[in-house]
Amino acid sequence: MSLKPSAAPPETSTGDLDARHLWHPYTQMRLAPAPVPIAYGEGAWLVAESGKRYLDAISSWWVTLHGHAHPHIAAAIAQQAGTLEQVIFAGFTHRPAAQLAGKLAALLPAGLNRVFYSDNGSTAVEVSLKMAVQYWANQDRPQRHRIVALRDAYHGDTVATMSVSEPSYFTEKFQPLMFPVQRARTAPCACCGAHANDCDSLEAILQRSGEEVAAVIVEPLLQGAGGMKVHPATFLRDVRRLCDRYGALMIADEVLTGFGRTGIERQGVPTRGDAPNPPLFACEASGIVPDIICLSKGLTGGFLPMAATACTARVFQAFYSENRRDTFFHGHSYTANPLGCAAALASLEVFEREPVFERIARITQIHSERLEAIRKRFADRVLETRQAGTVGILELRDESGGYLAAVGPKLQNYFLENGVLLRPLGSIIYCLPPYCISEDELNQVWDLVERSLQLA
Ligand SMILES: Cc1ncc(COP(=O)(O)O)c(C=O)c1O
Repeated sequence: MSLKPSAAPPETSTGDLDARHLWHPYTQMRLAPAPVPIAYGEGAWLVAESGKRYLDAISSWWVTLHGHAHPHIAAAIAQQAGTLEQVIFAGFTHRPAAQLAGKLAALLPAGLNRVFYSDNGSTAVEVSLKMAVQYWANQDRPQRHRIVALRDAYHGDTVATMSVSEPSYFTEKFQPLMFPVQRARTAPCACCGAHANDCDSLEAILQRSGEEVAAVIVEPLLQGAGGMKVHPATFLRDVRRLCDRYGALMIADEVLTGFGRTGIERQGVPTRGDAPNPPLFACEASGIVPDIICLSKGLTGGFLPMAATACTARVFQAFYSENRRDTFFHGHSYTANPLGCAAALASLEVFEREPVFERIARITQIHSERLEAIRKRFADRVLETRQAGTVGILELRDESGGYLAAVGPKLQNYFLENGVLLRPLGSIIYCLPPYCISEDELNQVWDLVERSLQLA
């Protein structure tokens, strides 16, 4: 059999082929500038086919942990590809999947020791929602099927994850497909301090309809795409307490926050005796154990699409039954893909082989200093600065339009022209770099952000 020659001759440029055939995510194809063809990545840099270099200050949609093309992870994937690239995960298992599950169970908040794999952040959350609803159904309590989510949440782009996200431009066209969700207010920004009544709104919902609630879902410490909002660890602890009081499961969506993104400081909780390492998860840093946790993005160091939904023995037990109808009927073709597992194991090894915790601490420190200076110097332009560990955020004043604020693409183009990949969410500029970024490089990013504020 021979493959027909492709429609375009091989010498056609990446840009031409792209313009002819591709449809990019979150992109108005009519208005957006042509995408930048990237030839390769190294460390915190992306290098275009033209030779122009871009400092990746958003870790390529929040996934790259240790840097692009990190040789240890690349080698682990190559080695695995030559051994076992894929195997059906029903009725079969393999060493990388089992090893990774063991490692995650050891690193996650104590008790989250049963791991279910899937492919991306949305599926990690989708799995958690189905797990929570079936947990109750398997125990003959199907009336507990509702989900409570937080205002400003973002949990993904599938229909169920859109349902639990804040209604927005992203979701408005799909409203007829989505299920109803009750939404609780979050606490005010952590930077403004916690308040005694932060959880009143959640408690009111649980008081009213707690008997129908399967689970409460939260993005711990940092709500990402819904506006880079930061809340205090005390809020999270209150959510845990209320879930316990009203019998609902707590789902922590750490798709973004996992693997050190929100910093490695323990927030008002003592170090666990058996956990000498700094916490890698926002829940651990806050001293809580959710019933279900969702991981993706940084799981493979940003190399391959993979996700894990981990739960406690209590949740797992509700599915462990003589009755085949109690089975968790969920799975994906690529569940536990060996290449993804190998990448994830290698990424966790990088935490042991390189001074990653020091890098996280340094980024946290630089963000804090630069944001403080920006807040003082640009009080007329900047409404608020916020920070969650390695994520530094500033929100501009007087910009309407939310995510579609015109200032967003303007700033993005300015940053790109100047060799930095930043992608403001409307009028919210945030820096979320790979941990390998150097002090100089990170200061370069903040210098450019300051220049952009002078221009406007
Ligand atoms: C908190 C959170 N949950 C879920 C998702 C969805 O992940 P994915 O884009 O891999 O489907 C995201 C993506 O940004 C996220 O930030």
